[in-house]
Amino acid sequence: MGISVSPLDPADQATLDAVHRMAVAAQAVDEPDLPPLCRRRFEAPLRHPMPGVDTHWWVARLDGVPAGWARLYLHTLDNTENASVELMVDPAYRRRGVGRALHEHGLRLLREHGGKRLVGSTVTALPGDESRQLPGAAFAAAVGAKPALADVRRRLDVTALDRPRLAGLLAEAREASAGYRGVRWSDHTPEEYVADVAYLEGRLLLDAPLGDLEWEQEKVDAERIRGTERALDARGVRRYSAGAVHEASGRLVAWSMVSLDASSTWHAWQQITIVDPDHRGHRLGLLTKIENLEHALAHEPELRVIDTYNAAANTHMIAINEQLGYRPAAGSTDWQLTI
Ligand SMILES: CC(C)(COP(=O)(O)OP(=O)(O)OC[C@H]1O[C@@H](n2cnc3c(N)ncnc32)[C@H](O)[C@@H]1OP(=O)(O)O)[C@@H](O)C(=O)NCCC(=O)NCCS
Repeated sequence: MGISVSPLDPADQATLDAVHRMAVAAQAVDEPDLPPLCRRRFEAPLRHPMPGVDTHWWVARLDGVPAGWARLYLHTLDNTENASVELMVDPAYRRRGVGRALHEHGLRLLREHGGKRLVGSTVTALPGDESRQLPGAAFAAAVGAKPALADVRRRLDVTALDRPRLAGLLAEAREASAGYRGVRWSDHTPEEYVADVAYLEGRLLLDAPLGDLEWEQEKVDAERIRGTERALDARGVRRYSAGAVHEASGRLVAWSMVSLDASSTWHAWQQITIVDPDHRGHRLGLLTKIENLEHALAHEPELRVIDTYNAAANTHMIAINEQLGYRPAAGSTDWQLTI
């Protein structure tokens, strides 16, 4: 029979089970320190897509047995020539051409939709840990993709926080940020800040180093923020935010968010942290991050670790993270294939 590729049928529970099991197995090999992928989040693109994302999901079978899967995310509000891709093969069925078959199907879909670029990430070893063999990079290079951006995942061990040091940093940040006041919220952005959150989120890609990735500034408005919040609600993702309001203007000018998947109480992701360029130099990045750590811990007593990704070249953000106690845990590379 060989390899066959077909769209994932959302009503086919057995195949969905197999696809999730493969994703958990693949992650357990590449990144065993992460919690198993949350099933609710994993399946959500089928019924609760993020605004501006059109998801295509397909499965490869080897002699009739599910052996791998891939998803293509076509962007409809911005970056309409770009597609992000996730592609995974069951560790039990590798090096038999399943990955290549999934990739070729994705390329066909991309061409049908007039896309020009595919972007995907692979886990890579940290410098100095070359003993680890990770297949993603070899595969990406074999299909002609180019490494475009190097990232590092850093981890904060919340059980080993240096509390006196954090208290000192927080005091310094408060002193440096006279004229700004801290605000906190969970899950939904208060209505008075939603336009500012949209502005901050929309300009993130202007500031974060993108290496050779061809990715344009995203068009984010209040409606898109609310749509994203609904999609995250459907995934059961718990979010904690801290921000800084510029008292003279009443605007929210700095924002940091941490999130936890529905399936985890011990693991969180540090998501966005951004300070409006007009308000930099007042330690607002450090302030919102430390305040948000307190905020998340107050609601999540079992929280033990927080992971975050930074571009290896993002020296300012990395310096803040290292001050808080984040340390490198894994490498990651974003690959780009232009067709
Ligand atoms: C990367 C991955 C998808 C490859 O799946 P696969 O079915 O084994 O890939 P294929 O058999 O189609 O391999 C295609 C080519 O990739 C290269 N390749 C794949 N795995 C490799 C490895 N472990 N070492 C060296 N080269 C490798 C080879 O050139 C291979 O061709 P060859 O077997 O004729 O030499 C799979 O290992 C995986 O799921 N990894 C985790 C997730 C990931 O990194 N996904 C990729 C990016 S989104």
